[in-house]
Amino acid sequence: MSTPFPLMPPNASSVATEMDLLYLFIATVSAFFIVLVAALAFIFAVKYRRRHPDEVGADIHGSLALELTWTFIPFILSMIMFIWGADLFFSLSRPPVDSMDIFVVGKQWMWKVQHPTGVREINEMHVPIDRNIRLTMGSEDVVHDYSIPAFRVKMDVVPGRLTTMWFKATVPGTYHLFCAEYCGTKHSGMIGQVIAMTPQDYEAWLSGGTSATNVSPAEIGQKLFAGDAACFSCHLEDGKGHGPALGGVYGRTVELADGRTVVADDNYLRESIVNPSAKIVRGFPSPSIMPPFQGRLSEEQLMQLIAYMKTLKPAPQTH
Ligand code: CUA
Repeated sequence: MSTPFPLMPPNASSVATEMDLLYLFIATVSAFFIVLVAALAFIFAVKYRRRHPDEVGADIHGSLALELTWTFIPFILSMIMFIWGADLFFSLSRPPVDSMDIFVVGKQWMWKVQHPTGVREINEMHVPIDRNIRLTMGSEDVVHDYSIPAFRVKMDVVPGRLTTMWFKATVPGTYHLFCAEYCGTKHSGMIGQVIAMTPQDYEAWLSGGTSATNVSPAEIGQKLFAGDAACFSCHLEDGKGHGPALGGVYGRTVELADGRTVVADDNYLRESIVNPSAKIVRGFPSPSIMPPFQGRLSEEQLMQLIAYMKTLKPAPQTH
C-alpha cells in the first residue's frame, strides 16, 4: 500500500510499531488538551463576558478537588509517556548480545559500510531480516547522523568516538537512508539505501561480486596489529611486554593507575589507541610510553583493530 504523501515511513523493523504507538499516544494526548484548553478559553470568554459596565466578577476561593484533579491527571499521563519512552530508549540503546556487527564510517559526504565478511559498500547497506544488527559507527570529519526512518532508528556519528545502534529489520524491501545532522554543503546529498533481504538472499548477495578479495575487518585488524601499527611488539600475549596483554580485554573491567575502573568497550579501546595516556592501566608507566595513534590510523582502521581485539582470547592461566 503506497500513497503519494505517506504520513509515516514504512514500518519495517521490530521496534517500529511500538515507536509509532508511543508517538500516536503523545500526539493524541497533546491534541486533546490543546483542543480542550482552547475551546474552554473561548467558551468561557463568551459565556462570562461582562454584560453591563457595573458587573463585578464572582468571589471564588479555589477548589481542592479541582486542583487535585488537574494535577493528578497530567501527572499520570506524563508518567506513562516517561516510563514507556524510557523503556523503549533502553531497549534501543542496548544491542542484543547475538547481534551481527556492521561497521559504518561517515565522511563528507558519503557512508562507507563494511560487513563482517569484509564486503564493502558505499551509500548502501544490505542487511538480512529477522537478525539483530549492531552498527558501530565513526566519523572521519564532522558530526553526521545515520538515520533509517523505516526502522525508526537514528544515531549521531561523531568524530573522535564510536557510537552504536541496533535494529532488526522485519520486512524485505528498499528503504531510505539519510544523514540527519547538517554536515556541510552536500549534507542533503548524503543519502542512500538500506536493502533488507531474506537471509538466503543476503548470503547470496554477500558471496556474489568480489568475494575473492574480501578480507574481514578482524583480519585486516590482525594485519595492522602485527604489521604497520606494530602493536604486537609491546602487547605480548603473556602480559610480560611493555603494554598490557589484550586477550579477552573486550568487555572486561580494567583497573586504572589512578584507582578508577573502566569497562573496556569500543570507546575505551579507541581512546587508548589514539591517546594512550588518557587512561593508564594499573601497573604501567604514566604517561604512556606508547606513541599516540591520533591521525595515524583512519577511523576504519581503528574499528578493524578493535574488531581484531574482540577475537583475542585470554591467555591460558598458569598456576
Ligand atoms: Cu552527513 Cu549531514
